[in-house]
Amino acid sequence: MATVRRSVALLGATGSVGTQTLDVLRREPDRFDLVAVAGSRRLRELAAVVREFRVVRVGIAREQDRAELREMVGPGVEILVGPEGLAALAASADIVVNAVVGFAGLPVTMAALASGRRLALANKESLIAAAPLVESVRATPGAEILPIDSEHCAIHQCLAGSAGEPGRPDVRRLILTASGGPFRGWTREQLARASTTDALRHPTWSMGAKITIDSSTLMNKGLEVLEASALFGVAADRVTVVVHPQSIVHSMVEYVDGAVIAQLSRPDMRLPIAYCLGMPDRLDHAWGQLDFTSAFALTFEPPDVEAFAALPLAYEAARLGGAAPAWLSAANEVAVAACLEGRVAWRDIVPIVSGVMDSYEPGPLSSIEELYAHDARARELARALVEVVA
Ligand SMILES: NC(=O)c1ccc[n+]([C@@H]2O[C@H](COP(=O)([O-])OP(=O)(O)OC[C@H]3O[C@@H](n4cnc5c(N)ncnc54)[C@H](OP(=O)(O)O)[C@@H]3O)[C@@H](O)[C@H]2O)c1
Repeated sequence: MATVRRSVALLGATGSVGTQTLDVLRREPDRFDLVAVAGSRRLRELAAVVREFRVVRVGIAREQDRAELREMVGPGVEILVGPEGLAALAASADIVVNAVVGFAGLPVTMAALASGRRLALANKESLIAAAPLVESVRATPGAEILPIDSEHCAIHQCLAGSAGEPGRPDVRRLILTASGGPFRGWTREQLARASTTDALRHPTWSMGAKITIDSSTLMNKGLEVLEASALFGVAADRVTVVVHPQSIVHSMVEYVDGAVIAQLSRPDMRLPIAYCLGMPDRLDHAWGQLDFTSAFALTFEPPDVEAFAALPLAYEAARLGGAAPAWLSAANEVAVAACLEGRVAWRDIVPIVSGVMDSYEPGPLSSIEELYAHDARARELARALVEVVA
């Protein structure tokens, strides 16, 4: 049977997920047409993608970069700018890959779903911040979210084929695995001396700087608890985290009869990316193939939630609901950026986030305007705390 060709918009094309998505697309020229891309600072790399894939529409973050990009891509390519540009591009393809980092990815998530597209979602921050709003646009006919985040992609695969109803009464809990990051096993005294360079050395995954730092604080896992709850409609207190240093079991679902279904593969983001692009087909590349002819061990241990306070903070944000997850994520973005710029130490990140959360007043989140106001307030408080610490 002939494969149906599908158009793809790849927003965040120059980053870690973006370039790995390009690698998948390169191997499947008969299945996918890359019609739109977006990036921000790496203009040269973005222009190279436009030329290689003959892309006709490209988005950038800043108006001041338009002329330089125009020179590199020539006259026949439409250039769109800013959040409105991202939203327009996200409404323009069958499959929208949201590989933008941070809250800047929100217009992509909202526009892709509102226009009834498949959203292949790497950008967890938009879903976490806007969960109640995403829930309503997700009901648009044709709209669907397939998770690129490897843990959530694993859960999606573990849930497939089970006869659950909405709200999943047959699921007891979702079990997210965590590598534990570079500081697994470190004591609080050791963590107090951890450097940003140490934090950027992830033991099993090669990723963008922000998520690598998030992995080292375990904030990434906290954000993933919120992401899993929003994606699968399971309360956060039924999402458990277990440390699994080998990053082979990508996550698990425990059913009410005690059965646990897991998804295993080598850690390679091209597998979840290809799953989201190809669905319902599996693409024939075996990126994650395991070699069972030689011995290897899989180990599991509970996370140290006293040393890694980001995890309890995320559960607390889930309990508070409303805009609390948006505050958590926004404050974390500011603190991580300050750490990467060398303005605060690694050990300051979580206390800054925690300090911002102390000011959050619970209430419902009912509009996108409210969400932008909450995001701005949380960032303002976080920046003030950065100044105090710096
Ligand atoms: N990396 C992974 O393996 C991985 C795994 C699971 C989930 N994720 C999630 O995937 C997302 C991307 O992560 P990453 O590691 O790929 O990050 P990254 O390497 O830092 O790439 C981020 C991308 O977003 C673009 N971007 C940033 N701001 C933008 C804006 N305002 N408009 C348009 N493009 C913008 C960047 O463009 P420039 O580079 O041109 O500035 C870049 O293409 C994050 O939400 C992360 O949590 C990543």
